[in-house]
Amino acid sequence: MKTGLEIYIQENAIKSKVKEIAQKISNDYKDSELILICVLKGSCIFMADLVREISIPIFLDFMSVSSYGSSTSSSGKVRIIKDIENDIEGKHVLIVEDIIDSGLTLVHLRDLLYTRGPKSVKTVTIFDKPSRRVVDINSDYRGFEIENHFVVGYGLDYKEKYRNLKDLCILSFYD
Ligand code: IMP
Ligand code: MG
Repeated sequence: MKTGLEIYIQENAIKSKVKEIAQKISNDYKDSELILICVLKGSCIFMADLVREISIPIFLDFMSVSSYGSSTSSSGKVRIIKDIENDIEGKHVLIVEDIIDSGLTLVHLRDLLYTRGPKSVKTVTIFDKPSRRVVDINSDYRGFEIENHFVVGYGLDYKEKYRNLKDLCILSFYD
């Protein structure tokens, strides 16, 4: 099968959206201690850009989960490969996601983190595909709503490829 790439959201548009979200977060958490949890690997680029636009003191942590294997739709199962290192009890937590598709990953992560007694758990995602949702969850902060396309770049991959593309691109498959 052949693949095609087409730019969907340009680097500059992503940059200004990230700034906008970071300002909101800085304002909303200005009097509290906040831990941002990056969901590896897809969110690493967004996390790096986002934290540099946040103007309040924050803590960073990283988690690695696997839900897809190498296919393009969710298996519904979320496997934790690497857990966070911080104790989040009594702390405000913000889960940093690259994209919400079925919503299964986020629901699973949010419920898991809640069992550890944080003061709050909110989520931020740079991309959102609401038409693909199978569970009822919405992000507290979100960048772009996107149509039902398989997208790569800005951290997102297909079989581990394309994460380093600066723009978000549509990956299409044809014979
Ligand atoms: P969900 O559990 O179906 O919401 O899937 C969320 C995860 O699947 C995201 O964090 C991504 O890593 C991956 N994902 C969902 N849609 C796409 C896509 O269009 N391109 C690449 N990865 C995707
Ligand atoms: Mg992800």
